Amino acid sequence: MVDDAKLHQFIGQMLSDLGGAASIALVRIGDALGLYKTMHERGPVTVAELAAAAAVNQRYLREWLSHQAASNYLSYDPATQKFTLPPEQAMVFAVEDNPVPMVGAFDVMAAMLENGEKVQPAFKTGAGVPWSEQASCLFCAVAKFFRPGYHNNLVSNWLPALDGVVEKLQRGAKVADVGCGHGWSTVLMAKAFPNSQFIGYDFHPSSIGHAIAHAQEHGVTANTRFQVATAKGYPESEFDLVAFFDCLHDMGDPAGAAAHVRQSLKHDGSWMIVEPMAGDRLEDNLNPIGRIYYAASTVGCVATSLSQEVGAALGAQAGEARLREVITAGGFGSVRRAAETPFNMILEARP
Ligand SMILES: C[S@@+](CC[C@H](N)C(=O)[O-])C[C@H]1O[C@@H](n2cnc3c(N)ncnc32)[C@H](O)[C@@H]1O
Repeated sequence: MVDDAKLHQFIGQMLSDLGGAASIALVRIGDALGLYKTMHERGPVTVAELAAAAAVNQRYLREWLSHQAASNYLSYDPATQKFTLPPEQAMVFAVEDNPVPMVGAFDVMAAMLENGEKVQPAFKTGAGVPWSEQASCLFCAVAKFFRPGYHNNLVSNWLPALDGVVEKLQRGAKVADVGCGHGWSTVLMAKAFPNSQFIGYDFHPSSIGHAIAHAQEHGVTANTRFQVATAKGYPESEFDLVAFFDCLHDMGDPAGAAAHVRQSLKHDGSWMIVEPMAGDRLEDNLNPIGRIYYAASTVGCVATSLSQEVGAALGAQAGEARLREVITAGGFGSVRRAAETPFNMILEARP
């Protein structure tokens, strides 16, 4: 028996979900053409005023603005026919260095659509899909999505939450950023701690190329190096700090990676593991954040891990208990949750 009230309620949810999905293309257009930034600078604008300021076609722009107003991304005043980017929405769409920019998340959603086609056949075979063969812009989207979280937390909150690490970094420490991707985390740390040396490792050559470019752009080449290497095979040792940002669960053999980190650390070194926030049980993660992470995990993280040796496929919602198991399997004596945000948990492992 179908309950009409529940059906209506669910259709309401579907409309909202479809509206969000329909916004992916439009938000990315607005970002790429600088429409949000222009509106943020200029305040209330008519279609004609914004078209002139952003050098775009008025007809397309009117449709885009109408969608954005219907989405509560912009406000619209019928009396003046002006559209405004409210200050709260500006923090999400236009202002880069604040705690909540989310355009990168829309890029991730676009990459996930492309990934879906690549991963669907693997549902039948159980094979993995290597990171390097996933959506063309997944790597830049991931970097853009995670960067604000690192910008707002890494130097100010996460590193100070580790035992004695900031003092070592200020004096001069040797640090590895493993699975560094486009290297934003490496660059942020290198800027904040010029006396320390940072080596970013990732097994994806094109990401290492981007990381080198970012280090040059941000003037930190003197204390950064980047190298293509796997988490189980990176060459150097005697590290004071090894950091893994949102990558341990992507690895095929996370326990093997943990063992490699253990032997690459100084006897009093620290391993910082930044992972998506999650509870230990599925029922703990049936919420909006779990919903997004499980989707990304299905078409990205699980596929990446299954394409590697062991294929542990922890998933992006592994939870602290499962993460502790692989960390201690690698030979670490203590693990504690040092910090957290709504999106991330920061674990500190010590030999
Ligand atoms: C989700 S991305 C995170 C990238 C970056 N740390 C960040 O936070 O923006 C995961 C990264 O792990 C890397 N990765 C996955 N498995 C790896 C392995 N076994 N060894 C080295 N890097 C690996 C991928 O190439 C990718 O750059």
